[in-house]
Amino acid sequence: MGAEKEILVPDIGDFHDVEVVDVAVKPGDTVKQEDTLFTIESEKASMDIPSPAAGVVKELRVKKGDRVSMGSPVLLLVQDGAAAETPKPAPPAKAEKKPARTAKESAPAPPPAVGSAQVGAEDPAPYAVAPTPGPRSAPPAPIGSETVGGSQSARAYASPATRKFARELGIDLGLVRGGGRKGRILIEDVKSFTKAVMTDNRVFQKSGGFAMPEIPPVDFSKFGPVETRELSRLKRLSGQNLHRNWVTIPHVTQFDEADITELEEFRKSQQDQATKKNIKLTLLTFLVKAAVVALRKNPDFNSSLTPDGGALVTKQYFHIGFAVNTDQGLMVPVIRDADQKGLFDIARELAELAEKARSKKIKPAEMQGGCFTISSLGHVGGTAFTPIINAPEVAIMGVSRAAMKPVYMDGKFEPHLLLPFSVSYDHRVIDGVAAAEFAHYISTLLADIREILL
Ligand code: COA
Repeated sequence: MGAEKEILVPDIGDFHDVEVVDVAVKPGDTVKQEDTLFTIESEKASMDIPSPAAGVVKELRVKKGDRVSMGSPVLLLVQDGAAAETPKPAPPAKAEKKPARTAKESAPAPPPAVGSAQVGAEDPAPYAVAPTPGPRSAPPAPIGSETVGGSQSARAYASPATRKFARELGIDLGLVRGGGRKGRILIEDVKSFTKAVMTDNRVFQKSGGFAMPEIPPVDFSKFGPVETRELSRLKRLSGQNLHRNWVTIPHVTQFDEADITELEEFRKSQQDQATKKNIKLTLLTFLVKAAVVALRKNPDFNSSLTPDGGALVTKQYFHIGFAVNTDQGLMVPVIRDADQKGLFDIARELAELAEKARSKKIKPAEMQGGCFTISSLGHVGGTAFTPIINAPEVAIMGVSRAAMKPVYMDGKFEPHLLLPFSVSYDHRVIDGVAAAEFAHYISTLLADIREILL
């Protein structure tokens, strides 16, 4: 039996009180010189702590999550003197076929040394410290099916912490060149590789737009109790569409407000008549009417881009969509030919379509062909929001909660009911001035009910 040796954290430069993020060995394990014992990680770099000698781990003195500095005891090793003094070269590629392997022979073969940060065998600093290096990784491979998740990863020379990190990012370690000792791949190398891939123009060429890194998965249960619920099919679908619209349409949102004091008075004055017809004359009814008048005056807002983006299709009809929040997710029923319908008809149809959407009885045809969408959160509250355009439409109106506010008129303040609203528009189709005029026009329409009704 060899001599026992207490292994201490070596000189790790300016790092103090750094976290042990991975323990690669357990009592009873046989290690060879240079095998990784622990990985520690500061805010700037991760470091593998290799064994200074060959032997058998007798006792661990640290565990994952502990914090250590230079000189902290990490484990007790029963040394194998001979092995410690004569480290052998890396094993041949088919070492696993040998009938009797030694611990040394079964170790992974380090890849060729690459880059200036490589620490040679004779280097006085025996630890692979990786302080935010310069470009050390291989140039990214063309983006394609082999870029991530290839089978090279298993043969790469990297610590468990680095492997875990690469797995979370979907990076094939076989594509990453290691800048650590003997070519070991460090977390910094994976980061540099990812950065290089993301800034490579070829990524942009491949998608015709741009590619985005995925948000790495997080095990939230590490931080507290959690509950996971599947999203409804509708929510997934509308989520995909919202995401697509958000990232593919250059949105700008114009904010405005309308003085709806008179409109509200008119609405209430008509409510008795509406109730007799079993109708609720809602604010949304007037917004639909105002939208029609504004679209008629501004045809670009009633258009869609052709798929190649080279032409604008202007519609001669006025189908207005309105967002309805249902148990299953967001739906947008459409009032067809709203220009040809009276207030009561629109009010009735709004209520019927909203009810059909909520009770899942709405037909796909009743949600198609929209020219412009209104999303009203006014019944809930809020002062402003930026609605996402419902492609292939080019504009959408977002309505927030009306409130009584003092308005300075004729030398004095008077209480008025002001309705805040916004218009998000596709800036490829609509200029800022046109959008400001459009929103302002809606504001004047709502302020003077005659403009809508005539
Ligand atoms: N500011 C202040 N109050 C508002 C308002 C606004 N912008 N919009 C609506 N309200 C009030 C209404 O006056 C009404 O109050 P009341 O019951 O005292 O009359 C209440 O909020 C509910 O509004 P509602 O009658 O439902 O009218 P609406 O015009 O907002 O909506 C329908 C009409 C038919 C679409 C409605 O039934 C509906 O489904 N609304 C929900 C729309 C939705 O899901 N929006 C979310 C989009 S993401």
